[in-house]
Parts: sequence; C-alpha cells; structure tokens
Amino acid sequence: MDEPLRPQFHYTAEKNMINDPNGLVFYRGEWHLFHQYNQHEVVHWGHAISTDLMHWRHQPPAIFPNHLGQIYSGTAVVDRNNTSGLQTGSDAVFVAYFTFADHRDGTQSQGMAYSNDRGRSWEMHPGNPILPNPGLKDFRDPKVFWHEPSQAWFLVVTAGDHLRFHRSGDLLEWEFAFSWGQHDGTHTGTWECPDIFTVPVVGSDERRWVISVSVDRGAPAGGSGMQYFVGRFDGRGFVNDNPAEVVLWQNWGKDYYAGITWENAPDDRRVMIAWADNWLYRFDLPTTPFNGQLTLPRELILHAAPGGLRLGAQPVPELEGIRGLELASGGRTEVTQGLRPLGDIGECYELELVLDVAESSAAELGVDLRVGGGRFTRVGYSRDRGCVFIDRSAAGTNPHREFPGRHEAPVELTDGPLRLRILMDRSSVEVFTQDGTQLTDLILPVGDCPGWRLFAEGGQGVVDSYRVTELLPVWSFGHGVLADSGEWAHTVLGLQGSSPDLGIARLEREDHLVGTVEILGTRDGNPTSLLGETAAGYVIGYEPHAGAGVAIVLNRAARTVELRELPSRALLASAVFPVHTNQRYLVEASLSDGLVTVGIDGDLRLTATAPLNAGHWTAAYVENAEAAFAFTRP
Ligand code: FRU
Repeated sequence: MDEPLRPQFHYTAEKNMINDPNGLVFYRGEWHLFHQYNQHEVVHWGHAISTDLMHWRHQPPAIFPNHLGQIYSGTAVVDRNNTSGLQTGSDAVFVAYFTFADHRDGTQSQGMAYSNDRGRSWEMHPGNPILPNPGLKDFRDPKVFWHEPSQAWFLVVTAGDHLRFHRSGDLLEWEFAFSWGQHDGTHTGTWECPDIFTVPVVGSDERRWVISVSVDRGAPAGGSGMQYFVGRFDGRGFVNDNPAEVVLWQNWGKDYYAGITWENAPDDRRVMIAWADNWLYRFDLPTTPFNGQLTLPRELILHAAPGGLRLGAQPVPELEGIRGLELASGGRTEVTQGLRPLGDIGECYELELVLDVAESSAAELGVDLRVGGGRFTRVGYSRDRGCVFIDRSAAGTNPHREFPGRHEAPVELTDGPLRLRILMDRSSVEVFTQDGTQLTDLILPVGDCPGWRLFAEGGQGVVDSYRVTELLPVWSFGHGVLADSGEWAHTVLGLQGSSPDLGIARLEREDHLVGTVEILGTRDGNPTSLLGETAAGYVIGYEPHAGAGVAIVLNRAARTVELRELPSRALLASAVFPVHTNQRYLVEASLSDGLVTVGIDGDLRLTATAPLNAGHWTAAYVENAEAAFAFTRP
C-alpha cells in the first residue's frame, strides 16, 4: 500500500479494479464498506471494515457472481426487528440488494443476499431474482430503506433516466409503488446508483429528504457526476422543492461518482462515500496494482441559500484522528502579482486556507500544490467568475484527452473571507468551502513534487491565514510495513526486522497486542546476520512523531525483560528472564487508563505507567539485533 500513486488516506483495494461503493451499513461499532470489485473481468462485492471511517481492514470478497450474473451495485440494511425472519443468531441480519447483470447479454434484475455474522459471510436468497427485469435496458442499483411513518421498506431502482419505487413489509416480497423523476433534473445520461435519505438543515432541528442520483454523462466538469433533489417524501411520492428543470450538482470536480450513504449510522449521521473517478477515462488510469479509489467519507448537511436549501458536505470529524504534525502555518500574507513559494510540505496533508477576497485586487488567487519538476496542481478562487476551482492541467500525467483541465464550482461569498479545506493525497485532491461546496479531482503527479506556493494573478492577493497539517497513512501491518527506523520486510518467518541500533515498525492502531518475537541468532555455526543479538520486542502506546511509548524489551544480553520509556529508553520495570536466540516468546500487552500491563509466555508479568505523550499504536522493536515477529491481528 505504498506505491508511488497509492492514496495514503483514501480507500483502495490492494489490487484489481474497483468502482462504486455498495451496501454501506453501520452495526455494532463497525462501518462496513462493500464495493464493486472486478476480479478477472467478473464483478463481485469487495468488503472492508473500519471502526473510525479512516483505517480500513480488507476482508475477503463478500458476494460472488452465480448463474444469474455478475454482482453490480446496490445497498444493504440492518434488519433490526427481523422483519424478514432471516435472523438466526443474536446479531441482527444484514440484507443486501444488488443487480444481477446476466453473463451473456447483461440483462439486469435485482437480487438479494443476507448475512448472519455481521457481513462476514453471505447466503444468496433462494427466490432470486427478487425483482425480474420488466423489459428495461437500464434497471439497476437498488437502494433499500425503512420509512418509519409508512411502517414499510422501500426499494428504489433506476429505470433508464428515472426511478421506480417498490414497497415491502418483510424485505422479501416487493410490490411496485410509483415512478418518479421522468421530468426532474438532468436527463443527459443514464441514471445510476440512487440514494434517498433525510439530511439535517443547518441552524434548525429540521431534516429534509434528499434524493441523490448519479448520471453517467453531462456533468459540469464533463462525463459522469452526481445530481440531487431536495423535497418531501411521504411513502406515496416525492415532491421536489424546486422547479422540475432545476439541476443541482453535489460535487464540481470531475471525479465524484456513484456515491451512497451509510444506513443505520449512529446519531442520525448521513455519511456519504463516492468513487473518485469518471467513466470517461476509468480504464485509462495508469495506477497499479490498484485501480480505482474512493473519496474521503463526508458528512452531508443542508443549508439555506438564496435559491433554497442546498446540499453541502464536510469531511467526517474522524479525519482528526489521522492528523500528524503541523507542517506549516502563517498569518496574513500578501502576494503581489505572481508566485510566492513557501517551501516543501510533501504529498499527504490538509491545508486550511483563508482568502481575504474583499482585500484582494487579484482576479484570481490561491495555491499551487504538489509543485516540482515544472508541475503543479492549482486550487484557487476566481473573482471574475465567482468560483472556486481545481486546475490539474499541469499536475502530471494526462492519460486521456478528457483528463487535463480546470473544474469550477460557483460560490456565493455573501460577506467575509473564503475558507477552504484542501485534502491532498498522493493521487487525489478534495476541496471543501465553508458552506460545503465540494470538488474532488484525481491527479497523477510524476516524481518528486513536495513544494507549494501562493499565487495571485491580475492584481494583489491577500491570504488571511494558512495551516498545513500532515495526514498519516491509514494502512498498517498486513498492507506493507510502516517502518519508522531499521530494515523491515515480510519473510517466511513473518515480519522480520533488523537494526544495528533501534528499529521500530508500526503494526496497528490498537491498545493491545498478542504476538511472538524471536531473536534470530547464529544457526549451525553460520551467522545469519552481522548484527549483535542484543534485544527485541514490541512497543505499546506508541506515538510515531515523538517516538514515544513503552518498549517491551526481551534483552538477551542482560537476561532480562524490561519495560523502557521511549524515546529516552529510561528503565520503568525489569525482571530476570533468560532470553535465548532462535526461540519464540509470546508477548501479551495492553494499555488502559495510562497503565501498561505485559505478560511474557503467559507467565511473567510487568506493569508500568505510560508516558503522558504516549499514543495508540503497537509496534515491533529491535535493538542491535535481527528478529522475527508473528502476531494475531485484532
Ligand atoms: C455505476 C455503475 C452502476 C453499475 C456498476 C457496475 O458506476 O455503472 O450503475 O451497477 O457501475 O460496476
């Protein structure tokens, strides 16, 4: 998970092609992400789980094609009251709806599968397809939701360029209810991936219904994009708040598609994730071994604008959990016509940028990011055009003639400054304004381009303030190694590390660990390593930036087990323990309420107080030694 263009905090599969998110449900602390997963030209549902919407654990593919077809997009629900009667254990049953695409002619029908082990394994419903094709070429992407006032489930599916609603009491038998959308919004392309949900209105207790629909052609930046409608839904129909011809777009970048929201999310949150891509060039992207990435999850809000309620989004607050060091910050800064270089900030960060538009005479002002080797990605505000824009024309590789360009989002600046949040990852950039206007674009930078600068054109620009915060990689052990020091690799022995002094590799964001450690020594008289055979172990409560935490050190040289505070290595506790080379020792450790508790081989116990700047990672540790590690992932 560390290839040059591999996103570090946006979701990707380890390999193969992915597209739409599917079946998003939250249950018992787990955010489930399913998605279109194209293995050997056959589409399945891939699966990943997160407890914080940032760090994902890849799971085996969830739903497999059968004789009825490939598994195209859809959604899932948690049947809390077992209306389907499909629940077998104490966990609620998950019920997933998707489109079968016939293997020979692509005919689309709706299928259902269910899981009684919180999404880990799925059974096809024997009655599939639950909705046969009524004679439509495009009939796909079912969205299912519970409507409390109707005491009924609804299933919405696209039918070419409008929607068909169906109704059910038990999630199994569906009857057609009504069609909607023939005359509303844009019909420049095929409608796909519908969603329907309520969204809170900012500054009130009210929630309003929103229908979200992806359209495969004709979006403002070109190609595919997502429109939405605000209105009222009463179980018998949807009434659009706006005149039918009004077209509203969710995201003004060129790479935001097939987004849907999580069902059963805590605190009534409405969290959307989309596929950061465009059908114009999805097959031309040069990334490998992964192909396709998802956007950052975002919280949806409605806010009052002159034309009525408008849908906006902000990154989910969980983003704060992957913030690292502050890389740069500054107050009021003037840019006289031209460029103002500000140094290097790397590839993955959040930039909070406040532009004092009223004080600026410039026609356009903003920032160039990922600057290096003559390339850059521009994010700015155009006073003349009243828009925020991303310009990726000079960002790097342009794999398709539709790829380069500038994408603009209209913004109404009623008063005060323009506040931008810009999330930069290795191959994508996402921009959010204070009112939730959003742009998402892929970029394909080439080589090293860590720089950034301010720009102003056609006058003077005034930046009110800026702050750049590093965003940390979300992939841990099992998906590459996050080596902070020393040499680390996956070998037949497990994770293997070596260092002539200290070597540390991050494993998991967890406060407990269970694993073995073996110091590799001279075997049969042949030295396997030129290092000493001093010590190895783990770190708990690790905080990578300060290098803080508590090291659990199996010290062969001293014949002790020690707890040492990092980075000072001050001794916190120790016990006599003969440590041999080429022997595995079991280490169990946990951090709770600032106290570290360690057990060795299920026997020896040590405790110590963790330092105040301790973090929440586990890590593997070597000290003038070569060692092998094996551990169970929580
Ligand atoms: C949207 C879409 C869906 C379809 C899926 C197939 O990107 O075209 O309509 O179900 O992709 O992978």
